[in-house]
Amino acid sequence: MSLLRCSDRAILDLWHPIGAIGEIVHGAVQETVLLEERLKFEVGSDGHAVVWRFRHDLFRADQVSPADRLPARSAYGYVWTSLGSPPPELFAIPEYAEPDRRNMNAATVGVHVSAPRAIENFLDMGHFPYVHTDILGAEPHTEVKEYDVEVSVERDEILATRCRFYQPKASTASSGGADVEYIYRVPHPYCSVLYKSSPVDESRLDVIAVFMQPVDQEHVRAHMLMSVLDSNNEDKIIKRFQQTIFGQDKPILENQVPKRLPLDPRAETPIRADKSAIAYRRWLSQKGVTYGVIPAAA
Ligand SMILES: [Fe+2]
Repeated sequence: MSLLRCSDRAILDLWHPIGAIGEIVHGAVQETVLLEERLKFEVGSDGHAVVWRFRHDLFRADQVSPADRLPARSAYGYVWTSLGSPPPELFAIPEYAEPDRRNMNAATVGVHVSAPRAIENFLDMGHFPYVHTDILGAEPHTEVKEYDVEVSVERDEILATRCRFYQPKASTASSGGADVEYIYRVPHPYCSVLYKSSPVDESRLDVIAVFMQPVDQEHVRAHMLMSVLDSNNEDKIIKRFQQTIFGQDKPILENQVPKRLPLDPRAETPIRADKSAIAYRRWLSQKGVTYGVIPAAA
C-alpha cells in the first residue's frame, strides 16, 4: 500500500478538482498531482471519468480494475476525485444548470501558495482598488462597507452577504461603473463560489467560482469556473477578463509570507484578517484542517 503524504482526514475525505473536462482530449490519459500523490485519469466521450494512482503497469483506463480506481465524478465542467471516503454529494451550484448560462473554465493556473491563502484572497474585497485598479475597484471608493457573515450549519458552509463595492468594470458585459452586490459562499475548505450582480439582468447573478487543487501544502492549481449571463462576447473574451484579474492576484498570492495560512487569530493583524477571513479561519480550525495551514496552538 502506498503511504499517504497527507494525513489530514478532513482534506483527504473531500472531493478535489483535477482537470477541466473541456480542455481534455477524450480517451487521452492525463497526469496530475493531488496532495503530493501522482494520479492519472481519463475522460470518456460520455464525460465519464476514471481516476487511478500512478503505476508503471497501468497505461489506460480500461486496464484499471475497479479496486484500483479512485472515486471519480464530473461536475461543473471538471473531474473531481478523492484520496479518502468522499461524501455522496458535491456542494450544489444550481445556477450552473440554467440553460442560458455560459459555463466555462476561465483558466487553470499553477500558483506557489497554499489553497487556504488563495481562498482567503478571493474573499477579500479590500484589495480591489489597489490590485484590480479601474476594473474591480478605484480610488476614492476604497472602503469595505459593512456586510454579513454567517456559517450555515445545515449546509456546512460560510456565507457572506450584503457585500457591496463600487466597480468601474465588473465584467465583460459591463457598460460602465456600478455599485455591485456580492455574495460569497465557501462550501468546501478549498473552494469558493462568488455571486455578483449581472450587468445584463438585474434580477440575476453571475457566478464565478474558484476550485483549488492542492498539489502540495504550498502549491495549487487554481481552476476558475465562470457561469455568466452574456450573449454577446465570445468565450475567449469572457475568459480573458478573469485571466486578467487572476494575473493581477497571482504575484500577490506568491508573495504571501508564510505561504500556509495561520489559523491562530493573533497571528496577523485584524486589518488583513477581516470578517469573512476570521470566519473562514475559525471554520477551518473547527474542522480540524491541518493541511495548507499553520494550526493554532492548542
Ligand atoms: Fe483579487
